This record gives sequence, C-alpha cells and structure tokens, in this order.
Amino acid sequence: MGLQNRNLISTLDFSIDEQDEILTLAEKMMSAPKEYGHLLGGRIMASLFFEPSTRTRLSFESAILRLGGQVIGFSEAGSSSAVKGESLSDTIRMVTQYADIIVMRHPKEGAANIAATVSGVPVINAGDGGHEHPTQTLTDLLTIRSLKKHTDNLVVGCCGDLKFGRTVHSLVKNISRYNGVSFVFASPDELRIPQFLRTFLDSSGVKYIETDRMDENIAEMDVLYMTRVQRERFFNEEDYIRLKDLFILDLNKLKHAKDDMCILHPLPRVNEIAYEVDNDRRAAYFYQAGCGVYARMALMAKLLGAVQREEQKWTL
Ligand code: NCD
Repeated sequence: MGLQNRNLISTLDFSIDEQDEILTLAEKMMSAPKEYGHLLGGRIMASLFFEPSTRTRLSFESAILRLGGQVIGFSEAGSSSAVKGESLSDTIRMVTQYADIIVMRHPKEGAANIAATVSGVPVINAGDGGHEHPTQTLTDLLTIRSLKKHTDNLVVGCCGDLKFGRTVHSLVKNISRYNGVSFVFASPDELRIPQFLRTFLDSSGVKYIETDRMDENIAEMDVLYMTRVQRERFFNEEDYIRLKDLFILDLNKLKHAKDDMCILHPLPRVNEIAYEVDNDRRAAYFYQAGCGVYARMALMAKLLGAVQREEQKWTL
C-alpha cells in the first residue's frame, strides 16, 4: 500500500520491508544530507508537544528544517488551548488545516491513536504516556544498523525501568521481528517488563531471560540499552527514590562486555550511566541522538510521498 499518507502510531504499524525502506533512505540522507535540502520545501510540520521533550522535539524540528520545510507548534500543553479545555480531537481537526504532517507527544496512552482518527494529514506518535515511542525505535534501529551493519542474531540487553519505559516497549516489539534476536532484561523486581510484552514475546517464540543483576549476562550482549527510571510515571516519590540508583553502568561492569558491544540510551540520562563510560569506545548514545534526525527526515519524506516524486523525476 506504500508509505505515503500513513500514520505512525505503534511501532508495528509498518512491515519489516517498509521499515527497512525508511532506514535505507535514512542511511542515504546521513551520507549526503545536502542532496535532500529541498525535498520538503513548502511543507509544514506541526509539532504538538503536550509533554516535555528535548531530543525528540528538536530532532523532528531539525529534520523538517534540513529538508527545506517549516515548523509550527508548541512545546508544552500550557501554551496551547488545552488549558482552556479544548479537546484533543478539536485541536487536531484545526491543525490539520494548518500543516501537512503532525508530530505529537502526549502524556495519555492512546492519545496519538485518537488524533489519527480525526486528522486529515499523517500523524506521528512522538510518545504517548508509558505506551509507545515508535520514532525512538527507528532511531535505535538506524543506530544499530549503522554500528553493527545488521539487525539479525543480536543479543539485546535492556536495563533499568522496563515497566514504564516506552522506548523499551517499542524497541523490544519491533526488533524481535528480526531473525534470531534474543533479550536479556535486567531490572529491579518492581520494574520488570510488563505482562503484555512477555505475552507478545512468548507467542512469537522469542527467547529472553529476566534478571535483577545488571552485569550477570553482559558478556553475551551485542547491544546494551540503558534507560532511566521514569520518575513522572510513579505514583509514589518514595518508590522512585528507592529504585532510581540501583542500576548504574560503570567501567567496572563493562569489564566482561564484548569489545564491539554498543551501549545505547534514548536519553535523558540521570544517574544510570557513569560519566566515565562516555569515553569508552562502546558508548554510542550521543551518536544515537544524532541518528534520530536522519530517521525522522526519512520517515517524514516517505509519509509525505516526497521521495517517490523525486525518484520519478530522476528516472524521467
Ligand atoms: C525518552 C522518552 O521520552 O520516552 N526520551 C526520548 O524521547 N529520547 C526516554 C526517557 O524520557 O527516559
């Protein structure tokens, strides 16, 4: 059916082939960004952030600007009509007339899905509560492809807040579709992966182990995906304080890790990776933040059908 005019709400919305098409374009954009500088000229992206963000919002804005398009929007709910009581669907119906594509982040799970049902333009979910964050997954996959040259047969370690971390939920569902991928989930007992993810993996026959020791299986990992404890999703501040510093990656814990393991983190980092790790050759989290721009450039170009037109022009 092609990617033009589609929405990206959940990480499984695109088939592996469609996703690989986006990632391949992202790689081309990464190697020659200037060639794409006018691809989305005259297009407007609405950036609707009802919840705080630094990387996701700025990388989307950077992506549309690098493609020659423009951006409108708000970066906190407080500066939108949501404070006056406007419903999300009214906001979206209105923005549909001002922009060609909508990028939104919302604290409520399912909000992007509701937006997509009333929008006349493609909607991209930039994070909905503790649920999903599909463009972070595209970013993570692009980083892994770029560093490891493939996405098959990887042992992926996920560490930290696996209960509330939406980036982990999206990444695990998505990367488990590639051949031979298995997982090590390391977290305090209270922050283990949710049951829906366990059911998903069990029904797909994907192998995984759960442990409360972060370094126990580090020697097997090809990728170590660190996450922060999601303070804003806790009901009780005392629980957060008790759990927040239990899993800290430092050079000592990396002693037995493979030389070519890559350490990822969606960022922001709080305490979970010691600063000494930043200079280790396996630390890839700042590189990963840069990959986010190219993943989002490629995604928007595909949803807006721009690349197809350019490619047709080149073949005339
Ligand atoms: C993540 C998010 O918002 O879920 N950040 C991001 O988008 N890079 C991770 C987090 O906030 O911990």
